[in-house]
This record gives sequence, C-alpha cells and structure tokens, in this order.
Amino acid sequence: MTIQHKVDCVIHFAALKAVGESCALPLKYYGNNVTGSSNLMEVMMECGVKKIVFSSSATVYGHPEYLPLDESHPTGKCTNPYGKTKYFMEEIMKDVCAANEVRLTYRKKNKGICVASLAC
Ligand SMILES: NC(=O)c1ccc[n+]([C@@H]2O[C@H](COP(=O)([O-])OP(=O)(O)OC[C@H]3O[C@@H](n4cnc5c(N)ncnc54)[C@H](O)[C@@H]3O)[C@@H](O)[C@H]2O)c1
Repeated sequence: MTIQHKVDCVIHFAALKAVGESCALPLKYYGNNVTGSSNLMEVMMECGVKKIVFSSSATVYGHPEYLPLDESHPTGKCTNPYGKTKYFMEEIMKDVCAANEVRLTYRKKNKGICVASLAC
C-alpha cells in the first residue's frame, strides 16, 4: 500500500454498539468490531502507524466490583457480546504492543465512556 501523506495516529471510534442487537447477532458484532479493528491495526502496522486512540467501553468491566471505576479495575467479565468485542480488542492491542516491544499507554475515564489509548 502506498500513502501520500504521513499518518501519525489513527482515531478509531467506528463500531456497532447496540447491546441488545449484539446478543441477537453476535457474529455481526465480532466480525465488525473485532475483525474490522484487527484489520485496521494490520494496515497500520504495514504503514508504520503506531499510535491509535481506541474508543472502548465501560462494558469491559461487567458488573463493577467497586465504584468509581478506575484504571486498576479488572476487565473481562463482560455481560454481552458488544462488551466482549471491546474487551477482546483491548487484549489484542496489548498483544500487538508486546510483540513489537512497544509501550502501551492505557487510560480510561471514570464512569461510563472509556477511551483506551495505545501508543506504540
Ligand atoms: N455512545 C456511548 O455511550 C459510548 C460509550 C462507550 C463507548 N462508545 C464507543 O464510542 C464509539 C462511538 O460511539 P457513538 O456513540 O458515536 O456511536 P455511533 O453509532 O453514533 O457511531 C459509530 C459510527 O461507526 C460507524 N461504523 C460502524 N462500523 C463501521 C465500519 N466497519 N466501517 C465504517 N464505519 C463504521 C457507524 O456507521 C456509526 O456511524 C463506538 O466505538 C462506541 O462503541 C460509545
């Protein structure tokens, strides 16, 4: 792939996000949110783009063990496929960082909308 202009960072907010629909049509959500995001990261690696701001979700926490949520709260006990797509992408990003021996910067906002930021 040839790119005309240097891309410093990708801001990736595209996703399907209806919790109810994700329960009815999980493969649609895994295909779009996980495979789609994974494909995006693959192209980023091919093009040497190593920074992404990824819009995750508070659903990665499942039922909170404590409030307010913070960065140390465990993730992964998701209660629906939509949440799992976000959790899986967070895990995939960690693996991509580990494989490339690059740094992972990971931030989440308290209460609600979360942003995971990956800086390779
Ligand atoms: N709104 C919230 O409360 C909330 C909370 C937490 C996380 N998020 C996340 O923030 C992001 C943005 O949320 P929003 O509320 O603006 O949602 P939205 O539905 O308004 O916007 C998402 C957009 O992504 C597009 N999209 C989905 N799949 C795509 C694909 N494969 N290619 C191109 N475009 C695609 C959709 O058509 C839609 O326009 C999403 O990733 C969502 O999961 C939202």
